[in-house]
Amino acid sequence: MADKWCGEPLTGFPHRFYFRSTRDGRTCSRQVCRKWYPVPSTTMAKQPATIFVCQNCGAQSRKWLGQCADCGEWNTFAEERFRPAAAGKRAASSINYRPAEAFSYTSIESDEDERTASGIDEFDRVLGGGIVAGSLVLIGGAPGIGKSTLVLQMAERLVSGGISVLYVSGEESERQIKLRGARLGLKADGLFIMPETNLVAILDEIARMRPNVVIVDSIQTVFSPAIESAPGSVSQVREVASQLMMLAKQTGTPVFLTGHVTKDGSIAGPKTLEHIVDTVIYFEGDRHHNHRIIRATKNRFGAANEIGVFEMTGTGLIAVGNPSELFLQERPENATGSVVTVCMEGTRPMLVEIQALASGTKFGSGRRMTQGFDHNRTSLLIAVMEKRLGMQLASDDVFVNVAGGFEVDEPAADLGVIAAVASSFRNLVIPPETALFGEVGLTGEVRGVLQAQTRAREAQTLGFKKLIIPESNRKGLEKLLGIRIVGIRDLDQLMDELF
Ligand code: TYD
Ligand code: MG
Repeated sequence: MADKWCGEPLTGFPHRFYFRSTRDGRTCSRQVCRKWYPVPSTTMAKQPATIFVCQNCGAQSRKWLGQCADCGEWNTFAEERFRPAAAGKRAASSINYRPAEAFSYTSIESDEDERTASGIDEFDRVLGGGIVAGSLVLIGGAPGIGKSTLVLQMAERLVSGGISVLYVSGEESERQIKLRGARLGLKADGLFIMPETNLVAILDEIARMRPNVVIVDSIQTVFSPAIESAPGSVSQVREVASQLMMLAKQTGTPVFLTGHVTKDGSIAGPKTLEHIVDTVIYFEGDRHHNHRIIRATKNRFGAANEIGVFEMTGTGLIAVGNPSELFLQERPENATGSVVTVCMEGTRPMLVEIQALASGTKFGSGRRMTQGFDHNRTSLLIAVMEKRLGMQLASDDVFVNVAGGFEVDEPAADLGVIAAVASSFRNLVIPPETALFGEVGLTGEVRGVLQAQTRAREAQTLGFKKLIIPESNRKGLEKLLGIRIVGIRDLDQLMDELF
């Protein structure tokens, strides 16, 4: 630190004093002075020209960071032009701002049947019963999973019902869309296609045409000229979504957005949009299977977690009316390590096959591998089996798989996992017309699950002859015809019933 004169009158001592510096200024360390010299405000208030934004969660930083401190993702920071909040002038667009008024609660009219059927029943179910006026719906999923196909099919059904639809595509030209439409066998008079990526042009066209429904195929391709960042960056995606939200709310037009999600978060994922939009629908399942599952992970107008099941065929997505049949159709007869359990997906029961394979390990201790079921939960259940059933699984590799690429994440599948592992370990077949469900606790007790009645009905419908369930769920189910209901309290009873 340089010696400097502090400016106080001299008193006959050596006149050199040190300043103690902090980030915002310096204090004179001379006893009689102690004056505070702030850093000049002009240098402090200077804003950086660019800012780094996490493309996964939208966190901002002045410096580039390898790992986002907010969401923990690696390598997600990208440089964006800094735009002070005060200077957020709106892009020129045709939506006029109306200041909101306050309404008394009782004076507000709510129409229950304001929903429009999309024409695809499975999709309506996921939306909570149809399209709500003025809603903003995000359809997310990996590239190539079928988002464009789904929205185009929906558009066709809507226009054939006399509802005008504007389909804005930033990814495909009008010819490509026509080609896809021809493949899907669409006629679609009254469907308007607009290959455009500039938000201002899109909003102007919407104001001119006044369609009943707007579809924007891939929000990542649309940009607002008011923001300097590249299309697909977090700021752009957010700005475009909030402008479209405003459009939806003010004109009552339902708007559908599609968005890609990538694993490494290199494109601003729909994750950043989840709190802006009304409904978030994700495509699940992988491209190696023909079926596609759409799930509402957030829905302001209906139940979340509702699913719809489709099959991707040569002529587009076809709704699967009875998914249980689809998931069970390739089930092996009389094989060890296979059992059927009943899961709930939203309000819908679903029969899925759980497979397990226990085989001697080549390493010191057995590995546990799972697909479609929580890995830690599997380890826990295997530990319960070792302790309560005395099965020595420590030296076995145990693999658990939910057939058909389905994901199960509810404790009601515990009993299924245990039965499958036990069947493979003991090399005994579980009769194919037996299904089961129930949660298992750490002491080996079998606990009741929700909606047992709905689950039991589904098993009955699909022709199962025997259903093993928690004893506490058995009440009221004895009357089901053609199916024997067995209530159990612990894992020992399960083994007696199965083998
Ligand atoms: P697409 O809807 O373009 O995916 P996204 O918009 O999510 O990127 O779906 C493309 C995939 O779907 C492609 O791999 C081909 C397949 N597909 C069919 O199998 N049948 C069809 O009738 C159509 C239109 C697409
Ligand atoms: Mg697409």
